[in-house]
Amino acid sequence: MKTIDIVNGPRKVSTIIQGCMRMPALSKEDAAKVIRTAYDCGVNFYDHATCYGAGEAEVRFAEAFPLTGLKREDIYLQSKCGLCFDRGEFDWTKENILESVDGILKRLKVDYIDTLLLHRPDVLFDPEEVASAFDKLEAEGKVKWFGVSNLVPMQIELLKKYVEQPLVINQVQLSLEQSQLIDQALYMNNKTTDYSINRDGNCLDYCRLKDITIQAWSPLQFGMFGGTFIDNPDFPKLNEALGKIAEREGVSKTAVAIAWILRHPAKMQAIIGSMNPAHIKDACAAADVNLSHHDWYELYLAAGKFLP
Ligand SMILES: NC(=O)c1ccc[n+]([C@@H]2O[C@H](COP(=O)([O-])OP(=O)(O)OC[C@H]3O[C@@H](n4cnc5c(N)ncnc54)[C@H](OP(=O)(O)O)[C@@H]3O)[C@@H](O)[C@H]2O)c1
Repeated sequence: MKTIDIVNGPRKVSTIIQGCMRMPALSKEDAAKVIRTAYDCGVNFYDHATCYGAGEAEVRFAEAFPLTGLKREDIYLQSKCGLCFDRGEFDWTKENILESVDGILKRLKVDYIDTLLLHRPDVLFDPEEVASAFDKLEAEGKVKWFGVSNLVPMQIELLKKYVEQPLVINQVQLSLEQSQLIDQALYMNNKTTDYSINRDGNCLDYCRLKDITIQAWSPLQFGMFGGTFIDNPDFPKLNEALGKIAEREGVSKTAVAIAWILRHPAKMQAIIGSMNPAHIKDACAAADVNLSHHDWYELYLAAGKFLP
């Protein structure tokens, strides 16, 4: 497994992260298999959020962890806060951030998390309140590093005006089928295609300029949780291209689809969500696949794009 050092953040983190959003459906024994399988494949980073199963993902992880034989210090634990679906709002108030972290620590049964991300933007956020919450969490040793998820550059800039700690991560959607993070720059100024629409304020280039590590969520999904495109008959060209490279490299199509994300020079992490140990092993093989410059474009075009 390849690792990267997050600038101003945790070091030697695996390029593949095990996401835990789908963990509430598992027994604690099966959850332990997921955690351990990923770890044995080289994963040392696990992603949570307060809203995954309304906290159940964190609860299941904590129940399962003692069965894995791993120690807290063996892994990086990340969680996110701010999505309060139960209340029908997004909430970055100081009160909610502090309460959320206390809930995360309690559910995960740990004294600290390594990274805390603000999930989706609370459009009513007050950056001074966020800064005050982060100062307290850092001073109390509850959170080591901070970041964001699904944020456009200007929102990050606004936060940075007040927040003392570096914002080291932006977790955003990216897959071969959901590649808008990359598309807009390629089709720049092209009126004939929606691919040119700037949907995120040039998030990719901004994060690269500011040394913010991008974590790509849902690397195998089409649409917004539409299901996977792997072996899906609705994506024949993409599966053909994935299959050709997979055969050449002696890995699965899943590995090639994730290697496509890791091939980007932005040095991203990819967050996988499988709860199936065989799929997790397939996915982790991606870290050791070295796609060529041409492979990358071949896959991008096979996913339905064109050269403008
Ligand atoms: N920040 C955000 O807003 C945000 C949003 C969404 C997700 N996330 C994070 O990203 C993580 C990953 O999201 P995701 O679960 O949508 O990612 P994903 O890895 O793209 O999708 C995983 C899903 O695809 C299925 N799948 C079907 N065939 C597969 C195959 N051959 N190989 C692997 N998986 C296959 C998996 O089923 P099996 O379990 O049967 O393999 C699972 O249901 C989440 O756990 C969460 O941590 C963050």
